[in-house]
Amino acid sequence: MDYPSSFLLFSFLLILIYFINISKRHNSRLPPGPYPYPIIGNLLQLTNNPHRDLATLSKRYGPLMSLKLGFRTTIVISSAGMAKEFLKTHDRSFSGRSTRYTARVVDQHKHSMGWLQPGDHWQKLRRIVKEYLISIQHLDASELLRKQKVQELLDHVNQCCTKEKAVNIGGVVFTTSINLLSNIMFSTNFAQYDSESAQEFKDAIRALMEVLGKNSIVDFFPILRPFDPQGLVKHGNVYGNKILSVIDRIIDQRLQTRSGSSSYEGVTSTNNDVLDSLLSLHLKDETEFSRDDMTHLFFENLIAGTDTTSSTMEWAMAELIRNPDKMEKARSEIKLMEGNKNTNDPDFSQLTYLQAIIKETLRLHPPAPLLIPRRSIHDTEIQGFIVPKNAQIFINVWMIGRDPKVWSNPETFMPERFLDLKTDYKGQDFELIPFGAGIRICPGLNIAHRMLPMVLGSLIQRFDWKLEGNMRGQDLDMGEKFGLTIQRSIPLKAIPVRV
Ligand code: HEM
Repeated sequence: MDYPSSFLLFSFLLILIYFINISKRHNSRLPPGPYPYPIIGNLLQLTNNPHRDLATLSKRYGPLMSLKLGFRTTIVISSAGMAKEFLKTHDRSFSGRSTRYTARVVDQHKHSMGWLQPGDHWQKLRRIVKEYLISIQHLDASELLRKQKVQELLDHVNQCCTKEKAVNIGGVVFTTSINLLSNIMFSTNFAQYDSESAQEFKDAIRALMEVLGKNSIVDFFPILRPFDPQGLVKHGNVYGNKILSVIDRIIDQRLQTRSGSSSYEGVTSTNNDVLDSLLSLHLKDETEFSRDDMTHLFFENLIAGTDTTSSTMEWAMAELIRNPDKMEKARSEIKLMEGNKNTNDPDFSQLTYLQAIIKETLRLHPPAPLLIPRRSIHDTEIQGFIVPKNAQIFINVWMIGRDPKVWSNPETFMPERFLDLKTDYKGQDFELIPFGAGIRICPGLNIAHRMLPMVLGSLIQRFDWKLEGNMRGQDLDMGEKFGLTIQRSIPLKAIPVRV
């Protein structure tokens, strides 16, 4: 066949497939959505900021929308009411995970709670995390440790203040978040503030997150899975294995210490941290909780907890620098409590306005704007439409946080709105669900709930912040970069000034 005829035939076939798709869609009872092109589906309608593109599309097709991303049927939820339908009324039906291709890095898809499908193993890991990592008793016991870690951050900020040097806010709160978590888990710092010292762990974690946040073509065309066409899994394995080997080394050292300790009887603790508790659990029954389970549990929670908390703090600081009156109001609240309680070490979690700032930051800048995609376990009927088995579910919390039917002046940073509202982010109020909701709600919520006010409050308690080159706060670029979490496209740098 000559070139023009094959071209004509090919075009004809594409048009035919397109119309077959349309007619299949009419008969399928899928929720409404834009018509998909053959093979690529609606991929051309998404850019580097898919949460924004999906928000625009949902204005046309409604809060329950369907698309085809390559070969993947995708359902997008864009209102609080519909999120409640999915994460409360039909929570179990949508409790599967739609696994990203990059979840194959160091086989996380086989070991990590976040990627496992609901079942016995997933349930066991959640129970262990609940009991040993985030229990109220454990968090109360490690409060002093968190204060010490925040003091290390403040010492660094103090030095920058003396030298009138700008602080890379995201960078330092990233270091703080790693150390807060690594100390709760292993009683050790994994990162340093000064950039000259060895940063083996911190660099590996940053590089891994970069890889994990990349879009993989395999997510749209699973047929390409065996080829790792962009080399993402190969690349990610380099950093992932580095992190796992650091964790392994620490476990080995602790085992050695325990075997040398006089009180060692197979299950005795030496540091009373999470590692000690999990080692005891592992040594009691290695088939029930294997060494691999333990290593991956640490790995996953370090990854899941670091970027989310540090990016929230960076956005909060950016909003406060843009709104100096609100920074001042928060500082006055801290000073008032210091005066009332006659202390210079206030309990930041009790400060209503500071909490309102954190809620408002999470409303406007949820670190996971589409949550971690869920997967439907079976066909489910919702409002007369069918959400088919294995569909991937995006809950657009970024859009829900900007719904003008719920929030007045939704684009404006206005922590005051929360002073008269009971709305919280703990998974009961569906208009504010940055941690998700239902049986897969973020298990690290309690840790974040304590870390965020403590770090943010400490940063503004004794320091005011000015931008480099006398730039005005309102000129600060607030552009986003979509990845594993939503980052600022231009990192925030500011000079601390003592108040
Ligand atoms: C600002 C801080 C944080 C935010 C906004 C956040 C957000 C989220 C979201 C949206 C999910 C998915 C929930 C769903 O599917 O309904 C999630 C899951 C998860 N988060 Fe967080 N997270 C934060 C901090 C943490 C911390 C500190 C840890 C651990 C120390 C953690 C560990 C996890 C894990 C292990 C999962 C997977 C749970 C599962 O699939 O069963 N997160 N997080």
